[in-house]
Amino acid sequence: MSFVTGIARQLYRTYSVSIRAWDTCIGRTKLKVFGRARVGDDVRISGQICVKVSPGGKLLIGNKVRFVSGFRFNPVGHDSKNALFVGPEGTLDIHESAGLSSTTIVARKSVVIGEGTFIGGGARIYDNDFHSLDPAIRVHGKDDQVGIRPVTIGRECFIGGYAIILKGVTIGDRSIVGAGSVVSRSIPPDQIWAGNPAVFVRDLFPDKASAS
Ligand SMILES: CC(C)(COP(=O)(O)OP(=O)(O)OC[C@H]1O[C@@H](n2cnc3c(N)ncnc32)[C@H](O)[C@@H]1OP(=O)(O)O)[C@@H](O)C(=O)NCCC(=O)NCCS
Repeated sequence: MSFVTGIARQLYRTYSVSIRAWDTCIGRTKLKVFGRARVGDDVRISGQICVKVSPGGKLLIGNKVRFVSGFRFNPVGHDSKNALFVGPEGTLDIHESAGLSSTTIVARKSVVIGEGTFIGGGARIYDNDFHSLDPAIRVHGKDDQVGIRPVTIGRECFIGGYAIILKGVTIGDRSIVGAGSVVSRSIPPDQIWAGNPAVFVRDLFPDKASAS
């Protein structure tokens, strides 16, 4: 590596670290001001984050949680930012060391992201249907009879890019969801599921599964 290349690399590294420090500073402020969030230690934010927590809603961010968005930090899902929305009776609880890339989460009741779970770029997690299924209410009435059921994602799971997790789903610890999947049913621990609708692909630890 030439002297000039070395200097250029060092400058770029310093630039990237400064950007991340700036994003983290702005992001933490948004989480605290717009989200009234309890934010743990060493939470890092790269790229932008959108936060809205209605009065009465709760946003909890554990230690060492990572938020990433933007092409520089993760090209997958770079066209959207991390966006966290919590309704007036909702709780969004993101546990320690979880990592979210350009992920949208809407919690009207409860969404839990377990410790060490990674969520791929562009993923969407909704604990509700947003609109009534009855067209008379949806179009002409007060559109507030919306299906709402909590979503719980266990610890050390891996949710593929652009997956959608729908209301009422529980994903067991360490389980994996394929890229672009639509998950409408709960997934046991230690399994890989994929597709639309997501179906069982295989056990993560076949020896353990056949022994039990
Ligand atoms: C789910 C995943 C982990 C499976 O990987 P794998 O264990 O190597 O599995 P394979 O590629 O051997 O595929 C196994 C089967 O699942 C299917 N499959 C794999 N991923 C799928 C997906 N995302 N959607 C639908 N089906 C899928 C394959 O077609 C194959 O089906 P077959 O047995 O009928 O031929 C991987 O395909 C995936 O989606 N990774 C996520 C990548 C990602 O989004 N990263 C985050 C970026 S920020």
